[in-house]
Amino acid sequence: MRKEHPLSEIAWADLQQLSPNAKAPHLAAKDGRLFHVLLAQQFNREQLDAIGELATNIRFIAKNEGGLKFLQDLLAHKRAMLYFTQPSTRTFLSFCAACQILGVKVGEVRDTATSSEFKGESQEDSVRTFSSYFDFIIMRTEVGGLAERMAWVLSNSDRPIPIINAGSGKDQHPTQALLDIYTLQRSFEEKGGIDGKTIVFVGDLLRGRTVRSLASLLTNYRNVRQIFVGPEKLQIGRDVLDMLEAAGVKYELSEDFRKAVPLADAIYMTRVQDEWDVEKGESKRIDISKYCFGVKHLALLKPAAVIMHPFPRRGEISPEVDHDPRAVYWRQMRNGMWIRAALIAAIFRRDAAIQEYYEESV
Ligand code: CP
Repeated sequence: MRKEHPLSEIAWADLQQLSPNAKAPHLAAKDGRLFHVLLAQQFNREQLDAIGELATNIRFIAKNEGGLKFLQDLLAHKRAMLYFTQPSTRTFLSFCAACQILGVKVGEVRDTATSSEFKGESQEDSVRTFSSYFDFIIMRTEVGGLAERMAWVLSNSDRPIPIINAGSGKDQHPTQALLDIYTLQRSFEEKGGIDGKTIVFVGDLLRGRTVRSLASLLTNYRNVRQIFVGPEKLQIGRDVLDMLEAAGVKYELSEDFRKAVPLADAIYMTRVQDEWDVEKGESKRIDISKYCFGVKHLALLKPAAVIMHPFPRRGEISPEVDHDPRAVYWRQMRNGMWIRAALIAAIFRRDAAIQEYYEESV
């Protein structure tokens, strides 16, 4: 029998006309819970709080062998397909580790030269094939919007399994934004939370999908000021600013990195995303040396601020900065494993069981 999903009730052309906020209800399960995870705009404050708490509970439970065994039994009957046709270290491995924590078995395609796409099979047919063998698909692709298209295709098939967007084109990286929010939640836990904080984004903001997704998630918090600092040619896109204006969020654009550092409660550094250069080597003509965080900037930074980076880095943060307690990027990276485990547990509705086990354990 065909399983209906809300995404099967809207034509692809009509879906494309909707804003990301308007798309969100179509991606959820019929009861409004998480199903496809494609856009940062799918998450509200309540869900961000819940998923952060779930990640913390999983982290706590996994500290001992008995707890880890409990977690590994939760989804031992599930299989995940990791379809990563664009390079990745952290997202791929943290999803693998998250699956292992929950007992999920994984399969992978990381290079279409080794799959039948090499023989001309369409991405639609490839993804439908994955859905024949697996219970959900985690996909990274250089094609913006492809995860959304594949979710629509599957929702209109006999096996409407969830798709998690692990980075698509220049547009979205929602699970990175979730782990960034989780890092901010934990960093500001005893400092009034994320509300009222100033977040300074630095670097290639035009092509950085992590910044785009995080800027969107931050609109869920009260009085957060967002400052975008970078060379004019790499400044944040108009669509992000329109989204912030529509949400009534205060923002500023600047080319002055030194002036922005003392304003930050969190400074979010990014690398130049030259894989998106239209003309080979065009990024090399942009001087980014002014947008790098070195030891000399530590004295300018507030004592309680944090330094973040989605990584990989390529000199935007000097390794000497790693020793400063405000450098949280290695913790941020590890948070990705816990938040992705929480996300998978929530999609497959194991959150209540985890909460119950946690309450019995403390
Ligand atoms: N932050 C991030 O997406 O890293 P990877 O490209 O290594 O997955």
